[in-house]
Amino acid sequence: MIVAVDGPTASGKGTIAKALAAHFGLPHLDTGLLYRAVGRQVALHGGDPDDPADALAACTFPDALLKEETLRSEAAGSLASRVSVHPAVRRALYDRQRAFALQPGGAVLDGRDIGTVIAPEAQVKLFVTASVAERAHRRWLEMSARGIAVDLAAMERDIAARDDRDMNRADAPLMAAPGALVLDTTTLGREEAIAAAIEAVGARLSAPPTPPGA
Ligand code: C5P
Repeated sequence: MIVAVDGPTASGKGTIAKALAAHFGLPHLDTGLLYRAVGRQVALHGGDPDDPADALAACTFPDALLKEETLRSEAAGSLASRVSVHPAVRRALYDRQRAFALQPGGAVLDGRDIGTVIAPEAQVKLFVTASVAERAHRRWLEMSARGIAVDLAAMERDIAARDDRDMNRADAPLMAAPGALVLDTTTLGREEAIAAAIEAVGARLSAPPTPPGA
């Protein structure tokens, strides 16, 4: 079974994808990390993330980079969002994601285009979302807990800018895949969101298959 979990930044999709993977005993891939690694590699080499050639060259980043704590930062997320607009970068990262999705036994992948591009045949597609204000607040709490001072209004602006870039790029824009279950986590706590996702996936799996052409 392939489970595709898409959604904007700080919507809770990563937490949900991890929990679904643990619950259903499937391997999990956070595809955002791949784009973050490309962004970080460009920066390490003094390249320009907005330049398609520099960004493409960075797609051969060493796997060790995926373990770096710096990839979790807001700066890395922002760089990722800039390199991810280049079609050549998306193509270069496609095979790795596709192979992960197709492994025997299935997998859970989270990102922006899993249900639309990477695994459109996924048995379950979830689109996890939440309001910009709520997502900014969550990110702010997370950063504050790590002792990083950030301005909430600035965080809200960053998140809105990232959404805008992800939703309006020409190649593989962020959107709910046709047939995806939309899960709005704005008013849900962590455990409630996980429980709702597990229930939704369980219900989808026990539903009779849709007849062809229906
Ligand atoms: O999910 P995460 O916040 O780590 O993703 C960072 C950025 O990488 C996103 O803002 C998006 O621009 C890009 N991304 C993407 N496609 C994916 C995963 C991430 O374009 N499948």
